[in-house]
Amino acid sequence: MSLNIADEMASRWTPVESSPAMKQALERLPSGWKTRRLAPSLGLELQDLFLPDLDDDGIARIRALLLAFRVLVIRRQPVSPAQHVAFARKFGDLETQNPLLAANADFPELVQLKASREKKGAENLFHSDTAFYEKPSMGSILRCIKCPEVGGDTIFCNMVQAYAGLPEEVKRKIDGMVAVNDVNVALFKKMDPNERAAHRDRHRAVEHPVVITHPETGELILYVNEIHTTHIANYREVLGSDWGMDTPTQIRELFDLLVRQAKIPEYQVRVHWEPDTIVFWDNRAVQHYAVSDYYPSERHMMRATIIGDVPRRVR
Ligand code: SIN
Repeated sequence: MSLNIADEMASRWTPVESSPAMKQALERLPSGWKTRRLAPSLGLELQDLFLPDLDDDGIARIRALLLAFRVLVIRRQPVSPAQHVAFARKFGDLETQNPLLAANADFPELVQLKASREKKGAENLFHSDTAFYEKPSMGSILRCIKCPEVGGDTIFCNMVQAYAGLPEEVKRKIDGMVAVNDVNVALFKKMDPNERAAHRDRHRAVEHPVVITHPETGELILYVNEIHTTHIANYREVLGSDWGMDTPTQIRELFDLLVRQAKIPEYQVRVHWEPDTIVFWDNRAVQHYAVSDYYPSERHMMRATIIGDVPRRVR
């Protein structure tokens, strides 16, 4: 992939204005709803509301804000696990098991993310949750139970903007490509060969388009991530390459270029946690990275994961 760095960076200097969806979602809010934009690209903080109190109209507004701002930060939500689950259910069915994370003992719909002196925080790679499923999460709702006073932030990247910012040559090239997403790679290190075989049978790798269409907004999204996506499955088929034309190095370079888009600060927002902060993100449109800079402090989060659709590229 012969791209010079100026090409790759040009898109980052494109001015970002509030999208029509952002403006519309804010204009329609009732006067009691206080909000604060967190970054030009994505992220909105909501103040002075308690999620379990929302009626159907309130839930519809949250959905509109989620689609427009992609990451919603809602402070001071001392909800019970049952209230957390009930709120998440308003947006769809919830996952009840995850091969990477242990569930809460009483609520299988909530997975626990716990880091401490004994176990370092390990979600410090950009990813979208459960991209390794046929139907990955449409949204994740993460509540902070305990966190360090400084450190342990989560960075979110707007993958709609990441796609839009790609050079046209790259967009043309990846059109029609599909990539393999596999949970096993994240777990094999800890397994012996028999366990690996059994695990591979239970959790088959899946293929998703490299560029997907957002099922609600129609936007195009770059959908490869550095934890779960292992490779592009049909590179040569799509490009019609002859033997010797595109080397493994070029294929690798393209993959690396796609994966590193999530790391571009201009597409990101960084969220600082406090106990009882809830963050709700559109998992189709963003990737996230939990900064693991707080060892040996404790950080404890609980996540409800809403099941989404099969990712597709609509033409
Ligand atoms: C996750 O990867 O879903 C968790 C992110 C975090 O703990 O900040």
